[in-house]
Amino acid sequence: MKPIDAELVVSHLGRWSAGRGPLHLLLARRLRELVDTGALPAGTRLPPERDLARRLAVGRSTLVAAYDLLRQEGFLTRRQGSGTWVAGSSDEGPARRVDGPAHPMFLTFLEPPDGVIQMACAAPDAPPPELLDAYAVALERMASITDDLGHYPAGHPDLRAAVARSYTERGIPTAPHEILVTTGAQQALALLVRQLASPGDPVLVEGPTYPGMLEPLRDAAADLVCAPNGWEGLDVDAWCRAVAERRPALAYLVSTFHNPTGTVIPPLIRRRLVETAVAHGMPIVDDEVLSGLSFIGDPPPALAAFGPIEHVVTVGSLSKIVWGGLRVGWIRADRDLVTRLARLKATQDFGSNVPAQLAAAELVPRIPELSRRRADLLRIRHDHLCARLARDLPEWRFRPADGGQTLWVRLPSGDGSSFAQSALRHGVALLPGPSLHPTGGDADHVRISFLADTAVLDEAMDRLSAAWRAYPGAHDGHAVLKGIAM
Ligand SMILES: Cc1ncc(COP(=O)(O)O)c(C=O)c1O
Repeated sequence: MKPIDAELVVSHLGRWSAGRGPLHLLLARRLRELVDTGALPAGTRLPPERDLARRLAVGRSTLVAAYDLLRQEGFLTRRQGSGTWVAGSSDEGPARRVDGPAHPMFLTFLEPPDGVIQMACAAPDAPPPELLDAYAVALERMASITDDLGHYPAGHPDLRAAVARSYTERGIPTAPHEILVTTGAQQALALLVRQLASPGDPVLVEGPTYPGMLEPLRDAAADLVCAPNGWEGLDVDAWCRAVAERRPALAYLVSTFHNPTGTVIPPLIRRRLVETAVAHGMPIVDDEVLSGLSFIGDPPPALAAFGPIEHVVTVGSLSKIVWGGLRVGWIRADRDLVTRLARLKATQDFGSNVPAQLAAAELVPRIPELSRRRADLLRIRHDHLCARLARDLPEWRFRPADGGQTLWVRLPSGDGSSFAQSALRHGVALLPGPSLHPTGGDADHVRISFLADTAVLDEAMDRLSAAWRAYPGAHDGHAVLKGIAM
């Protein structure tokens, strides 16, 4: 029997090294949990020690010690010449399904580690005073509500009207019935995937892209088609070719301050993308969640300004300019799609939280001012991180971002996945390149967010530099990369 895929074991292990104590004990503890929960069922053949050790950026002796301990405890057995197995017979029953994503970005929320500097996800870390004021107004309004169950699957009328008005003021005429309010942009993406993609449908995404879209697409068994992206921006020819040849059910783009590269699609290319989509009858989902965070003045108009609403669906949110904990996002789409999405949302939650929507309705008219303030703050942090990277880790490669919250960094050797393990043990969480890529590419990249204040960024850079010095791939990186590919 072939061993279980080492990458799967690494993703199940998640934040195994967060905590105190020797590494082999931390590793054994997490493996024990995986056996107990059925994520590693009886009879599973574990990956070879050398392979798993390399991916976890630990010495082989750490892995041998962890396996040995679990063998003594009866969790694992060693079969001469054929490796290490989870004890018990495989006919003890089916593996217990482990639901939910093992993606490192989601694990950040599911298993928040103590004392680790968070550079794996990015959002404001405190509600601004404007949010508290908006809630005060919302609470006052709630005191006068009578005869209202508070269930609005498409969104509270006041917030739908406010969001529609904000698009219209940006030169993109929008009616309230063309807006669906969601619980953050994350729900917007998940609903759109459910509505627009059936199992096996080709879906065109950028590589790399926002990983929160990749998980719902994989859950939906979509066939992910990749158009390369990087510091130079989207490979537009490859994107247009993929539309013509693969006929995707939809294309997902982060057109403005791309996550993770921080690039912007220029106006002429926006026009070409939308024209291509219209010609092939394909909807584009334009994720505008980061579009308020500009370091370069006014960004180009949203994709929605270049084509009909039937072909350009727009996703927005207050998470990055107000606070992620508010959990208010939205979809701008044609009336028919909004109606279908509202039906779907009704089966999930009857509609989003009304107090949050009333508060959001107060804040939406202030988006330009809130965005500018947040972008000014992020720009300082961005510049600080860029300067520290250039000084402390000059062999790392990156391009300053035009906006957004993240830097896309190429390591000179080794690979992003095993370096992320090393960084975590030095107290910094970042995202490895393959976790943002539809086909696991960009192995030599990591995504680093610059949401923390400059003092925390200094500490993070000290830790990252120490992690790099201790990382085996920094010295014989080619061997590490080759080893992973074996
Ligand atoms: C590009 C992009 N889209 C969507 C989201 C999800 O946003 P929300 O917090 O509103 O669910 C994020 C959050 O990081 C993001 O970066």
